[in-house]
Amino acid sequence: MIRFKKIAITFMCITSVAFAQDVALKLNAEAMLAMENGLNNIQKGFLYNNIDLIKSGVDIVQKENRVYHDRKVIKSILPENKKLMENIALITSKRIENASEEMKAYLEMKQMRKAHESFSDMVNACTDCHTIVRGW
Ligand code: HEC
Repeated sequence: MIRFKKIAITFMCITSVAFAQDVALKLNAEAMLAMENGLNNIQKGFLYNNIDLIKSGVDIVQKENRVYHDRKVIKSILPENKKLMENIALITSKRIENASEEMKAYLEMKQMRKAHESFSDMVNACTDCHTIVRGW
């Protein structure tokens, strides 16, 4: 009986960890797609000279990116062999936040060239986290 309980508890722990991981990855995929959408708006806004579209894109990215300022979230999305890179991954998310704030400031000043540079910084930060995650 005790043996069975041990097995049952172990099984439950494994499945709940797997379940939590599954949920985390699903939420992550949703947030990533939203951020992609945000980037698309920003890029389109620059191409078509539509500042409101740029701003709406920045808002989306900022909102979705905020969850990645949390160490626990970062840990939950990093692959097993990359969990040690947690700090660098966390910093990429902070860089996205900084670049987006910079971008807003340049937009207010109508310095579009500078705002676009901040956009590039933002995309580079996305890429740096993907580089970690994907072992690029
Ligand atoms: C803290 C790390 C991190 C940051 C920062 C990050 N991503 Fe991701 N991204 C991931 C992980 C983890 C995955 C899922 C694993 C994979 O696709 O390799 C992912 C996957 C994606 C995907 C593919 C989703 C899918 O369903 O296949 C897109 C699109 C994406 N990210 C967009 C972005 C954009 C846009 C940014 C920047 C605004 C960004 N990501 C910043 C970690 C990050």
